[in-house]
Parts: sequence; C-alpha cells; structure tokens
Amino acid sequence: MPGRSAHRVASFGTTIFTEMSALALEHGAINLGQGFPDFPGPAFIKEAAAAAIHADINQYAPMPGLPRLRQAIAAQWERDHGRAIDWQSEVTVTSGATEALCDVMLALLDPGERVIVFEPAYDAYVPDIVLAGGTPLPVRLYPPDTAHPASWWFDEAELRAAFARRPALIIVNSPHNPTGKVFTHPELALIAALCQEYDTLAVTDEVYDRLVFNGATHVPLATLPGMWERTLTLNSAGKTFSVTGWKIGYAVGPAHLNHALRQAHQWVTFATSSPLQEAVAVALDEAPRNGYYRDLVREYDERRILLCHVLSSAGLATLPVEGAYFVSADIGALGYTDDRAFCRWLTTEIGVAAIPTSVFYSDTAGIPGLARFCFAKRIETIQTAAPRLTALRVRG
Ligand SMILES: Cc1ncc(COP(=O)(O)O)c(C=O)c1O
Repeated sequence: MPGRSAHRVASFGTTIFTEMSALALEHGAINLGQGFPDFPGPAFIKEAAAAAIHADINQYAPMPGLPRLRQAIAAQWERDHGRAIDWQSEVTVTSGATEALCDVMLALLDPGERVIVFEPAYDAYVPDIVLAGGTPLPVRLYPPDTAHPASWWFDEAELRAAFARRPALIIVNSPHNPTGKVFTHPELALIAALCQEYDTLAVTDEVYDRLVFNGATHVPLATLPGMWERTLTLNSAGKTFSVTGWKIGYAVGPAHLNHALRQAHQWVTFATSSPLQEAVAVALDEAPRNGYYRDLVREYDERRILLCHVLSSAGLATLPVEGAYFVSADIGALGYTDDRAFCRWLTTEIGVAAIPTSVFYSDTAGIPGLARFCFAKRIETIQTAAPRLTALRVRG
C-alpha cells in the first residue's frame, strides 16, 4: 500500500541519533553519540518513585502537573533566583522538555510567523516550528576564534537583522547543545533588549542548567529586567537527575504564557506520569540539601576532562566546553571535510559513535567540520573508547 504522510511531516527524515545508534549497535561501537547517561540515577529519586507507585499515586495527574511537583519547582525558582512564583498559574509539567517545546510552538505561533533559532541547534526546534506552521529564522553561532578564544559567539549585526524581520519568538538554549556554549550576561542583555524593542517572546531551553564548568555561570534570560513577562523557561528532570527515560519536563513563566502552553498541552498529552512527578518533587526538595548538585558537576567535570584528553591524544582537537555534556572535536586535522562520512567511518571502523555537527544546521554552507561526542558516560566507558580512538593517530 502506498505510504501517506501529511505535508507538515513529509520532509522529516529519521533522526541522526536513531541512525547512528543503530549503526553503533550493528558494529559493536561505543556510543558517545546520543545524549543520555549510561550510569544510574541517584538512589533518592529512584526510591521516591518506587514509594510513589506503592502509595498508589498511579492515576491521571491534574493537567498542569501534580501540585506537589509544581510547588517544588516554584520553591526551587524562588531559592535560586529570588522571585516568588505562583505554583498554580506560573508552572506547568510536561512529558519532557520535548513536549513543552512542541506545545509552545503550537500555542504561541500563527502560521507564517518567524522564530529566531541559533544554529547549530538542538534538532527538535526546527521541526516543532514547522509543525506549528511557523518559519525558522536561523542566526549562526560561530566556533571560538582568535577574537573569541573561549566561547562560541554570534554576530550582533546578524542578530539585529533577524530581529528586524519581526519574529514572534526567539529560542535561547543555554547551556547549549551541541556546542557547550553558556550564553554570557552581556549576550543575554542584548537579546533581552531586542526582545523588548521588537515585542518578541522568548522560549529558553535550560535543560542543562546544572551542568556548567570552568567558572561559567548560567543566567536564565527570564531573570533579566523586563524579561519575566515575555519568557517561558523550559527544563527537564531527565537531564538533572540522569533519568532521561522518565520524561518529566516543566515550564516556568508568567501566567499568560502558561495558559497558552496548557491550551496545547491539554490536547497533546493532557498529563504526564503521576508517580514519576511525585518522585521528581521529592528529588527537587532533597537535592539542594544533600549535596547532589555539587557532586553532579564534579563528576561531569571529571568525565569532560577525561574525554577531552582522550580526543586530543587521538589527534582530534577539542573546542572549549562551558556547559551541557557534549564536546565538539575538529575533524579537519584527520583530513575529513564531510562530518557524516567521518562519523560513519568512526563508528564502523574505529568502534566509537559520534554525531556529525552538520545535522544541527538548516543551512550547512560554510559550517566548521566537527563531530559531537557525549560525556554523559561512565569513566570506564570513556576509558574503553580511548584505545580505539588512539588508533585514529595511526590510520589518520
Ligand atoms: C537542548 C535540549 N533540549 C531538550 C531536550 C529534551 O529533553 P527531554 O528529554 O526532557 O524531553 C534535550 C535532550 O537531549 C536537549 O538536549
């Protein structure tokens, strides 16, 4: 029977993550491609989930999320950012940040409206915009260079030109996947000023907010003057507590943006897993008291340092990582210009899977030749990859 798909999805291919993970499995490669931890989540969240199931918190949650979780999220925001939050109207729980991203586009965009996206960009943004009938407006992030040695950067004139096209929305992902960039206060202040000048709303994807390294500081755009009223901040317990399969995400922002988000959410999933929401509530209350966030950063920093060392020892120069759990490696030194061909070869011949950075761009003209490696992996996993990657020196 001939296949049928609607126009709005017909252009979507299989994601590179599915393709590379299947290739990694087929060739017994160590998967440093897809971004999920290969180590267990903390005992306190797993015990809370088991207790919630035994306590029969097993029926539909209220549409905006379990009150206990929304209260814990509101308390966390007040603790971290000093603003009291109305948990009833200013917090919504979703099935991962993924659902929140799709809901936001469906809820806030009218067909043809534009959305600024910094590229390279997390792969869901452009399809979500397209599903909602919107038009992505890419603004390039450039890799560190002599003028900007420490961080990926964007050109102010290019950002201003994009705002001049009067976008309805801008998506800001910080800490950023795939580059590891953490947007600085001056960069965010510029974005905030432009949002206010052009009456643009902001959606911030802050799922890696706990993972910042090397003295970088994460600043939520919503905390800048004039931004609370026009920003929806998205987050995910999956990243924070190394339980990506649980799919508990949430949005924090003014009541009018939560109201719009819920208009979509109520017909997309309506509600998400009750016992896992309860467990995340317990974890959000406990984590600031039991040293979890401090240990999380320390352990990720060890993994980051080890993976950067392994890659550079193999002849793959690495770019600075300020946050999130990915490192970009320059494939040019090994004579490769096609990053897809490089990643396929690396997976099938060397036995280590990575993600070609070109998949994170809608326009690949003039992009740098990079591969993205994930360090949300046990030290032993990275150590097992080390001798395989060292073979690159010989073959390259
Ligand atoms: C930047 C970014 N946003 C959102 C997500 C998805 O979050 P969730 O697993 O909560 O749906 C990811 C997952 O990789 C991500 O990297």
